Amino acid sequence: MRLILLGPPGSGKGTQAQRLVHKHGIVQLSTGEMLRAAVAAGTPIGLQAKEIMANGGLVPDEVVVGIIADRIDESDAKKGFILDGFPRTVPQAAALDELLKKKHLKLDAVVELRVNESALLARVEKRAEETRARGEEVRLDDTPEVLTKRLAQYRSLTEPLIHYYSERRKLLTVDGMMAIEHVTREINRILGAIGALEPKDEEPAKAAKKPARKVSKKPAKAVEKAPKAAKKAAKPARKATKGASKAKVAKKSVKKAAKAAKPASARKGAKAAKKPAKKLTKKRAKR
Ligand code: AP5
Ligand code: MG
Repeated sequence: MRLILLGPPGSGKGTQAQRLVHKHGIVQLSTGEMLRAAVAAGTPIGLQAKEIMANGGLVPDEVVVGIIADRIDESDAKKGFILDGFPRTVPQAAALDELLKKKHLKLDAVVELRVNESALLARVEKRAEETRARGEEVRLDDTPEVLTKRLAQYRSLTEPLIHYYSERRKLLTVDGMMAIEHVTREINRILGAIGALEPKDEEPAKAAKKPARKVSKKPAKAVEKAPKAAKKAAKPARKATKGASKAKVAKKSVKKAAKAAKPASARKGAKAAKKPAKKLTKKRAKR
C-alpha cells in the first residue's frame, strides 16, 4: 500500500502514520523527521534546512524530492509506504507522480486529515509540553509564532494539493477532530472500502470470498465488474445465508462503503454492487 497523509501542522499525520505502520507493516517516510535528523547530524542538507525549518518555511522542492527518491528505493519501502509531510507543493506532487511512474508503482490514496485551525495550536503546545516533560528537546518550530507561519505556508502552498489529488480521484478526507483511535479506525475503514488494503490485512473479507461465488453466478458477475471497493462491500452480503437480518446488515455495509469510498470510480462501483445485494435480500427473506 502506498499512501500520502496530508494535513496542516498538528493535524495528526505523524500520529496516524505510526499507527498505520504498526497495523500494516509498511514504513513511514516523514520528510520532517528526515530533515530534523539531517539538522541534528549537521549534514549539508541539514545545514541548508535548519534556518528554514526554524522559521516555518519550506525546504526547496529539489532537496525533499531528492531525499524521497532515494528513500523509496530502499528495501524496507518495497512493500509500501506512508508519506507523511510529502508532497507539500504541487511541483513536489508532480515529481512524485513522475518517480512512481518510472518505477511502475501506483499510489493508492491520499488521506487528508481535516482539523479546525483553532485546535492546532493547542495540539502543538501540548506536544511541546509532553516533549519537555520527557526531558527531550522541543522542536524549534513548535511555538505559536512559527506555527502561524507554518499554517500560512500550508494554506498557500500545500492546500492546492487537495484539488490536485481530488482531480486525480485519489483524495479521501477524514475528520481529524475525532479522538486519535477513531481517526485511525476511519482511515482503515475507508482504505478497506477502496480496496487499498492487502488481503492479509482483511481476513474477514478473504473468508467471505469463497461462499460468494457459490450463491449465484449473476450477482458474482456483476460484482466482478465493480471496483474493489464495491466487491468488498458486497462480500458480506453474499456471505450472509442465514436470513433477512444478516442481509440487512449487508445492505447497510454496501451503503456505508459506497459513501466512504470517495473517488467517483468507487462510488460508481458501489452502485453496481448494490443490485445483487438487494436480490439476495429478497431471496433470503423468502427462505
Ligand atoms: P513536519 O515535521 O512534517 O511538520 P508538520 O507538517 O508541520 O506537522 P507536525 O509534525 O507538526 O504535525 P503532525 O501532523 O505530524 O501531527 P502529530 O501527529 O505530531 O515538517 C516540519 C518542517 O520540515 C516543515 O515546516 C518544513 O520546514 C520542513 N519540511 C518537511 N517536509 C517538507 C517538504 N515536503 N517540503 C518542504 N519542507 C518540508 O500530532 C500533533 C499533536 O497532536 C501530538 O501531540 C498528538 O499526540 C496530538 N494529536 C494527534 N492527533 C490527535 C487527535 N485526533 N486528537 C487530539 N490530539 C491529537
Ligand atoms: Mg509530524
